[in-house]
Amino acid sequence: MKQPELTKEHLFDYDTNRFHFAQLIYDILLGDYEGPALPLEQLHTMGKPSHVLTFSNDQNLYFHHKYYNSPRLPMLLKVYRDFIKTVIAPQFVDSHLVVQAKPTFRIHLPNNTAIPADIGGDPIRPGLHCDADYNHPDVEVNFWVPFTQCYPSNTLHLESQPGKRDFRPMVLSNGQVLRFWGAHCLHHNQMNDQGPTRVSFDFRVMNKSDWDTIDPAWLKQMATVQHKLKLTLGDYYMLYNKSTQQFSHHCKNRVSRGDTNPASTAAISAP
Ligand SMILES: [Fe+2]
Repeated sequence: MKQPELTKEHLFDYDTNRFHFAQLIYDILLGDYEGPALPLEQLHTMGKPSHVLTFSNDQNLYFHHKYYNSPRLPMLLKVYRDFIKTVIAPQFVDSHLVVQAKPTFRIHLPNNTAIPADIGGDPIRPGLHCDADYNHPDVEVNFWVPFTQCYPSNTLHLESQPGKRDFRPMVLSNGQVLRFWGAHCLHHNQMNDQGPTRVSFDFRVMNKSDWDTIDPAWLKQMATVQHKLKLTLGDYYMLYNKSTQQFSHHCKNRVSRGDTNPASTAAISAP
């Protein structure tokens, strides 16, 4: 990796007035809700049907569909691109970056997980995995952004270095971002037996020169085990040019999957 320092865990703050993700997500999920006013962390009290997330039924709750199909989502994606330009891109040295086109929405309801609970084979660490297990490239850097207060029962648990297994709960607040090497640092959830609900999104970024080191043959095979969809530039990823400050869905090396549904695009993410 061109910048090995990016594999080190890093916590930082951002301006929630400029990047008002929590309000945008509130509007998406609750803008047309006619019941009593609810904070995001009390979404579970709406009483929507739910199931424990599993490998075969991930990203498939009422709230995921509400988010990915919302007419308000393009506004959030506009702020997301501004966030990439302003906050994330300066952390990378290349002039061109490969960026997850749409952040993956997560909701961690009570008595549930935010990632498939049945992967990893460790009953006390539901969802234990690293993203490389799901065909994500080694050179990818993860950003994890919660919009509600996190607690040990509703947050991401992460080891500090690959193989160290010193799992710690990432107790962040709205306005904070965790950067980590999710490709190789194991992470998991707990069954949320304390409540309240956690709402977050996460995305992945890499220097274009690192992307270019990926074997093209392997690139064409980059598909999740679950969905058989391609993690390609033009679909899952977009290209950002620092000089022009433009994003493009560059199609070189693209393997078409004939599906541009935003919910499906999000569903190809690693857990
Ligand atoms: Fe992951």
